[in-house]
Amino acid sequence: KTVNLIGAPTDVGASTRGAGMGPDALRVAGLVDVLRANGLDVVDSGNLAGPPNPWDTPQGGLRHLDEVVAWNRSVFAAVAETLAQQRIPLLMGGDHCLAIGSISAIARHCRQHGKLLRVIWLDAHSDVNTAASSPSGNIHGMPVASLLGLGPPQLTGWSGSPAALSAADIDFIGIRSVDAEEKQAIRQLGLQVFDMRHIDEHGMRNTMTEALQDVDENTHLHVSFDLDCLDPLDAPGVGTGVRGGPTYREMQLCMEMIADTGQLASLDVVEINPALDVRNRTAELAVEFIASLFGASTLAR
Ligand code: ARG
Ligand code: MN
Ligand code: MN
Ligand code: MN
Repeated sequence: KTVNLIGAPTDVGASTRGAGMGPDALRVAGLVDVLRANGLDVVDSGNLAGPPNPWDTPQGGLRHLDEVVAWNRSVFAAVAETLAQQRIPLLMGGDHCLAIGSISAIARHCRQHGKLLRVIWLDAHSDVNTAASSPSGNIHGMPVASLLGLGPPQLTGWSGSPAALSAADIDFIGIRSVDAEEKQAIRQLGLQVFDMRHIDEHGMRNTMTEALQDVDENTHLHVSFDLDCLDPLDAPGVGTGVRGGPTYREMQLCMEMIADTGQLASLDVVEINPALDVRNRTAELAVEFIASLFGASTLAR
């Protein structure tokens, strides 16, 4: 298997500057060597180009819509090309708005190849705001709504159907910050949100067993990994950290159980903010978890 690293160095969808340095932080943390040590071929395609962050106020409830569209178009094209080459796209963000382009390209690929797409969304946040509901206007809080077909028209329909995903295609793990109107949306849409309360009560093992139960040989499994899913004590380099995340051990088990399905076919790693980090700790932690996602194990070879 060949993994293609795609850097998207932008923070246009975020509330804090700095996530644009995420791709190089992951490279400096040794992502390429760690993947190779786990038996994968790796191609680093370098960084995509796109508009600078204008640092404007929201217009119609959306900040930087044109820039978010431009970055996501590049991501969409790069991910689509990677999948056409039968390689595994690993999108290095950048903020979480980039999941719109990434997952739209994956959804289109799955439709064309008769694969069933399943998304595991690892995050402190549910990211299901719309322009009308968002308290911030930051589009990194809106990718799920856009992928469900509920975003601005400029950001929906890219997969070839009005919605890239339906509610049943996505499971959320680690959620602990949900805005008032997002709660309503989660209930109305029937989204499967395994929040921290669920993980506290049932443990990560039962949670992941439930989240992965319908994954089979025909599944394209995509992981969208927002580093703020972790506790900010472990991962301080994020712009919207929320305390009370899964422990290091719980997150390792989560990654290992995803790896065990054998169906991981694409990955987003987003929201690493080196400007807020401590000696690149968050990128280094991300690299450890990515290794587990791709099958690293203490005893197996
Ligand atoms: N819910 C908040 C908002 O809409 C925070 C979203 C944070 N999203 C993220 N990908 N870090 O602004
Ligand atoms: Mn988040
Ligand atoms: Mn499910
Ligand atoms: Mn997120």
